[in-house]
Amino acid sequence: MQQLNNIFELNNISKVYERKIAISSLSLTIKKGELVALIGPSGAGKTTLLNILANVLKSESGQLLISGVLSDKYNSGKKLAKKIGIIRQQFDLVGQLPVVHNVLAGRLVEWGFLKSLLSLIFPQEKELAKKALDRVGLLDKIYEKTSNLSGGEQQRVAMARLLVQKPEVILADEPVSALDPARAEDILSMLTKLVREENETLITVLHSVEYAKKYFDRIIAMREGKVYFDLPAEKVTDKLLSDLYDLKELN
Ligand SMILES: Nc1ncnc2c1ncn2[C@@H]1O[C@H](COP(=O)(O)OP(=O)(O)OP(=O)(O)O)[C@@H](O)[C@H]1O
Ligand SMILES: [Mg+2]
Repeated sequence: MQQLNNIFELNNISKVYERKIAISSLSLTIKKGELVALIGPSGAGKTTLLNILANVLKSESGQLLISGVLSDKYNSGKKLAKKIGIIRQQFDLVGQLPVVHNVLAGRLVEWGFLKSLLSLIFPQEKELAKKALDRVGLLDKIYEKTSNLSGGEQQRVAMARLLVQKPEVILADEPVSALDPARAEDILSMLTKLVREENETLITVLHSVEYAKKYFDRIIAMREGKVYFDLPAEKVTDKLLSDLYDLKELN
């Protein structure tokens, strides 16, 4: 029954690009409610792993279970879109539209096409958007053109959209790398707080080991397509980190 708590279960997953092995026989389990930071040197396979978890990239071999169900079974993208929310580095908001529309885009999977079109003319469920924007501290920008917002503010709009979408899992690939350090920490602390409050699961690729240790429960370090270590954040030592990033030891 333990397995009911597993949101992701990977067994011997491998992914090969041409001749490059991006992920090599990787096995791991991620439980509901965990906050996981994925770290490791460039080319280690972090983005590839995230795309496999999002089920947008198929592995050559091995098995992925999402909430106990084989990943192949999720062929209607809609079901998975409700379950998994994605934060991209470039926010992927529609800059020309007001903030409120971008927030309500979190409902698109449930609304279907017609209602979504209508919402472009008259925002549906505006209260929902207001509540979400209030939680990320942006209520005063609700009718602002999204492209007028700063990078940090746009990332907060993306978070408000997630609050509206209410996914079980959030996958993020370097969500704060486009921001200055103060903004980055602001966004990360807000994101991890919201995820904890909503009882969601978060898996984030992070450049900053410092933030990984400060805001996350578990750190998975990857190197050359393998798990190099997988530890509670407080167990990650400087020695492990210098070994992880020491490129001289790669050959
Ligand atoms: N579409 C692709 N075609 C060919 N090779 C690829 C492709 N995507 C990734 N790779 C290779 O697979 C390996 C893992 O890439 P991946 O993007 O997962 O690394 P990463 O850990 O996210 O790195 P970074 O920190 O630089 O973003 C790299 O060697 C990369 O060159
Ligand atoms: Mg990457």
